[in-house]
Amino acid sequence: MRVKLQEVVPWGRSMWEYAHMFGLSDADLSTKKILGVGDGPASFNAEMHELGRRVVSCDPVYVFSAAQIRSRVQATHDRLVEFARQHHDTFTWRHLNSPEHMGEVRLATMERFLLDYAAGVRDGRYVAAGLPRLPFGDATFDLALCSHLLFLYAEQLSLAFHVDSVIEMARAAREVRIFPLLALGNVPSPHVDPVREELERRGYVHEVRKVPYEFQKGGDEMLVVRRKT
Ligand SMILES: C[S@@+](CC[C@H](N)C(=O)[O-])C[C@H]1O[C@@H](n2cnc3c(N)ncnc32)[C@H](O)[C@@H]1O
Repeated sequence: MRVKLQEVVPWGRSMWEYAHMFGLSDADLSTKKILGVGDGPASFNAEMHELGRRVVSCDPVYVFSAAQIRSRVQATHDRLVEFARQHHDTFTWRHLNSPEHMGEVRLATMERFLLDYAAGVRDGRYVAAGLPRLPFGDATFDLALCSHLLFLYAEQLSLAFHVDSVIEMARAAREVRIFPLLALGNVPSPHVDPVREELERRGYVHEVRKVPYEFQKGGDEMLVVRRKT
């Protein structure tokens, strides 16, 4: 199946989804300093904040106001629900049971994020910044998480962008987790192997790990990257 999106769309997931996409344990969630890269309208940060935990999210979309983000996500909604209807069999439909349910859940997730957005910007938890350069010092975080950006948008983002981005995340955080490893259309992302070869050449530790999450069929793996100690 050939799937084209001209741009990276803002479409956000919940804390439950983050915990499963990245195989996060309760200890990870309660003790690790976490950076979410490309979190967009995900509610992970807001839900963690409600639990008294601090996550920093960065995304270029945070230059926009809440109203602007809402209208961009709403514009995305109709296209992605229609896309999911047309490609129904390429998704698992377990935690989300239909394209319409997916659309409702994603909009509710965005509203939860938006309720926290202004306070989070003031608090430095939502930072307007994007790969391949991050405005954080070396090893500021224990974990950098990146979902539904790298590898997924294989056509829009070059291999060089992927390599620079993974290395930049591994500079700012002790460990990087990236999910999924599929491109749009559920094909293995063509960037995974070349990125891993480059990481190997540069002396990073890298591993593909199964996770207990699968929405795109076959998309149940993340890449874990660390600098050698
Ligand atoms: C499909 S959304 C995924 C949001 C979230 N990670 C999730 O899985 O729910 C992709 C996000 O990547 C963001 N993005 C696009 N280019 C980026 C860049 N260069 N650096 C960081 N984020 C970027 C977009 O603004 C958008 O919010």
